[in-house]
Amino acid sequence: MTQPTSHHANGPAAAGEPGSRPRNQAAWLDGPFAALTVRPAPYTAPDPDEIVIRNRAIAVNPLDEIKQATGNLMYRWLPYPSVLGEDVAGEVVEVGSAVTRFSVGDRVLAYVVGMEKGRNHQPEGGFQLYSVARAMLAAPLPESLSFEQAAVLPLAVSTAASALFQSDQLGLRHPVPVPPAEAAPAGGREAVVVWGGSTSVGSNAIQLARAAGYEVVTTASPHNHDVVRRLGASHVFDYASPTAVRDIAAVLAGVTVAGVFAAGTGSAEPAVAVAIATGATRVSLASPSVSLGGLPQRRGPSRALLRVGVGMIGGNVALQVRCRRRGIRARFVWGSSLMTNEVGPMLWQRFLPAALADGRYLAAPAPHVVGLGLDQVQPALAALRRGVSARKLVVTL
Ligand SMILES: NC(=O)c1ccc[n+]([C@@H]2O[C@H](COP(=O)([O-])OP(=O)(O)OC[C@H]3O[C@@H](n4cnc5c(N)ncnc54)[C@H](OP(=O)(O)O)[C@@H]3O)[C@@H](O)[C@H]2O)c1
Repeated sequence: MTQPTSHHANGPAAAGEPGSRPRNQAAWLDGPFAALTVRPAPYTAPDPDEIVIRNRAIAVNPLDEIKQATGNLMYRWLPYPSVLGEDVAGEVVEVGSAVTRFSVGDRVLAYVVGMEKGRNHQPEGGFQLYSVARAMLAAPLPESLSFEQAAVLPLAVSTAASALFQSDQLGLRHPVPVPPAEAAPAGGREAVVVWGGSTSVGSNAIQLARAAGYEVVTTASPHNHDVVRRLGASHVFDYASPTAVRDIAAVLAGVTVAGVFAAGTGSAEPAVAVAIATGATRVSLASPSVSLGGLPQRRGPSRALLRVGVGMIGGNVALQVRCRRRGIRARFVWGSSLMTNEVGPMLWQRFLPAALADGRYLAAPAPHVVGLGLDQVQPALAALRRGVSARKLVVTL
């Protein structure tokens, strides 16, 4: 297991270690429901369109926690042992032969896609010292941002961009390289509603929609209202308020609502209600209507599993019927879908490098560093399971 592997024999040598490959370590998921264990991992050289990053900060996401906690219910294609993790920031140590945007030593952030179908699973996982990243899903990191700050972004910004800009989702105009105020259309007001603006994905959706020139109305708990306003929301309401949908419709009276984005458990139904109340015809959903959080962490059928399965299927069918009757298109979004369409290059090659460099785009939500070292990834996942509020849990390496 400690032997280095390479699927690109002519790759350049890694920086700082002439003649030898760096020693890699990973936090491995050895089987369904297992706790992560840290031990050596192969170091993999990049394919022509890839880079290798020495990770300095990594973040944990609900999908890592859900994969670990639900066994083979999701991501069934992942072999064991696996390396989970999507969000990395660090230094480039090796560059594939076709990559021109990065050099050894560059500070970068990247969305690594080892959990996705058809990818090279272990090398492209994030919970390790050295990750292989697709150059198209990486961006240079300006000196003004630390690795901890940058690690909050990759999956969240990719999911938000897929939802907002893909033609099969909300299909919004793309962000333009001028500040939002100047980018606002001269005609009538156009808005986007982000239900769950204090989630990681929602924080990025607010900023991306503003950068594309839309007014943003959002929801969050009251203690996060100032946080989401700083990201660009013009109005914010408490998602727990029974009048939230009505209040949103009232502030958007006379405004064209270009789309509604829903992030967070339980966000799908109110997002559709907002679309009905505002006349929006497109809804993009990042979260299932039922939480997988309460499932027992063991194999086999259980009442909770049955309840979640029935709730998820039944809830989705009811939602789709409601949408169809009203002429609304509501679709689930998959955060990695942007790597196969024009949204990926728009975000990672054009928008993010410029917007991060000039400080226009904020690394949000704020990082909360759980600890130093790969053995802190498991505590970070446990903390995520307990819940976070406008924070991204980060481990430094
Ligand atoms: N489809 C995909 O590819 C994809 C990718 C990434 C994430 N996701 C999903 O998107 C969701 C958000 O992920 P994340 O990483 O952004 O989450 P997160 O940051 O961990 O979410 C925490 C936030 O959720 C908010 N929240 C809790 N209940 C809510 C509700 N009923 N309505 C609105 N907001 C609520 C809380 O807001 P307050 O603190 O203000 O109460 C809290 O700040 C998760 O369901 C995740 O599984 C999907």
